[in-house]
Formats: sequence, structure tokens, C-alpha cells
Amino acid sequence: MVCLGNICRSPMAEGLLRYKIRQLNLDIETDSAGTAGYHIGSKPDRRMIETAAKFGVDISDLRGRQFKSTDFDEFDFIFAMDKENEVNIKRLASNEIEREKVKLFLMHVDYPNYDEVPDPYYGSMKDFEFVFNMLDDATDKFIEMLKK
Ligand code: 4NP
Repeated sequence: MVCLGNICRSPMAEGLLRYKIRQLNLDIETDSAGTAGYHIGSKPDRRMIETAAKFGVDISDLRGRQFKSTDFDEFDFIFAMDKENEVNIKRLASNEIEREKVKLFLMHVDYPNYDEVPDPYYGSMKDFEFVFNMLDDATDKFIEMLKK
């Protein structure tokens, strides 16, 4: 799961996916990263931690890291939260196989009406809750796709 800073959207997506995978006892490895290096080693944004906790999901142990080209070898799916991040991840790919691993998360799960997860960083707690709900639905859809 990849966004810009790796402190709002992608740790929330990772946290939700990890929570659901554990509940279902599935053997899937998850991780998240940012295309930018502003928040390497940082906890998720306090507003994202609080929103997640309100809905029973703990993301406080996650730490920011930057996406790196070896991630193409480690992961089968690389999901971008928005189009700008999708372009910037694809720039790091060295061949077509790597480029094809990169998808817009909401497009991959066929999410209605949206193709990008909006950046809540300069927004309000309502925006964080919107992102939580969107990623909760999208991760449910992704898990249903994996099960099939
Ligand atoms: P994220 O949100 O990409 O969802 O983690 C942002 C976090 C930090 C910044 C921008 C977006 N920033 O400019 O520091």
C-alpha cells in the first residue's frame, strides 16, 4: 500500500488489511510505504491513529518508510492510493512485469464513484474518517477478490 508520506492513507490501508488477514487466518504479507521520504521512521499521523482506534484498529506500531525498487521483487501487488503516486512508483520500475504490479487500489477493487483515495493531511477529522471508511470498504473488496 503506497501513498505520498506513509503516515495517513497507506498505513491505514495496511492496518486494515493486516487486521482482516489476521482475523481470517490468511497467509498474506502486507506492508506500506511512501513515495516521498519526509516521514521515514515516523508513526502514522496522530489523527489517523485516533480514527483507526475509534473503530478498533491499532496502527500505532507502524513506522514510515520510503518505497524502494527492491519492493518490486518482494510483493505481488503494489497499490497506489492516487494517480500521482502510481506514476511515481511506475517510474522506479525497471521492466514491464514490475510496472504491471502497480495498480490504483480503488480501480483494482472496482470501487464505486472514486478512483483515488483523497489525501486527508490538510483536512479535518471528518476527512480522516472518510478515508478510514473508504479503505475499510476497499480492503473488504480486495479480500473478497483474493478468496475467489
Ligand atoms: P499520506 O498523507 O500521503 O496519506 O501519508 C500525507 C502525509 C504527509 C504529507 C503529505 C501527505 N506531507 O506533505 O508531509
